[in-house]
Amino acid sequence: MIIYCEEEISSIRKSNQIVAKILAELKRIIAPGIQTKELDEFAEARVREMNAIPAFKGYRGYPATLCTSINEEIVHGIPSSRRLREGDIISLDFGVLYEGYYGDAAVTYPVGEITPKAEKLVKAAEETFFRGLEQMKPGKRISDISHAIQSYTESQGFSVIRAFVGHGIGLSLHEEPQVPNFGSPGRGPKLKSGMVLAIEPMIAMGDWDVEILDDNWTAITRDRSLSAHYEHTVAITEEGAEILSLLEVEKKRAPYLKENRYA
Ligand code: MF3
Ligand code: CO
Repeated sequence: MIIYCEEEISSIRKSNQIVAKILAELKRIIAPGIQTKELDEFAEARVREMNAIPAFKGYRGYPATLCTSINEEIVHGIPSSRRLREGDIISLDFGVLYEGYYGDAAVTYPVGEITPKAEKLVKAAEETFFRGLEQMKPGKRISDISHAIQSYTESQGFSVIRAFVGHGIGLSLHEEPQVPNFGSPGRGPKLKSGMVLAIEPMIAMGDWDVEILDDNWTAITRDRSLSAHYEHTVAITEEGAEILSLLEVEKKRAPYLKENRYA
């Protein structure tokens, strides 16, 4: 488990701000009719313009810059000629390498008008991340984050996907420790100032069982229920947690973000 100094954390912040900027740009071009590979091409072009490198492309043979996961697809959906349709939800998972440090974040966006139930799922994925974030203080343990995420998600009538975990990040895309999105509190390593973790709840409307498609990447819910993903890279400091992959403007626009969630 790596403890990063302030200077290294500012480097990790830089890569994550590139991720955040491009995810925000993608939000503006998402609309019915666009192909997921067009989103991928846009993201790759923007990453390279910013002198960064797509972190997922080539990672264990993954073929693209973005993971684009639609509806019952949970994660690792491969961009293709498939076109988004009104009422879809699309999860974008995205990582970059910039000046030696990694950034990683994911969001789920609606395509046009979506059903109230889908809307509730998307909001719950985001909110459950923040429930996990509240636990990210020196002295707490990894599974305190896991427990908070599971409790909130289930309180909303949704389930937490168990097959994928959050992770340390910085000099590598995936570092120790693993951060499950479920479990009882008070277990696992103690959180320390200087740890940098990507927290990434994936939740489903139905059951948490997963199936992998024949492309050997795309994970879908076995019951084909809708799934949403929300991820940020977070640094633990003496003052609390800082979301490295959130743009300043997003902090101001998210009405439920209390100051003390950063303090
Ligand atoms: N979902 C993974 C994460 O956020 C990203 C997988 S990278 C891939 O850690 F290249 F395997 F897609
Ligand atoms: Co991640």
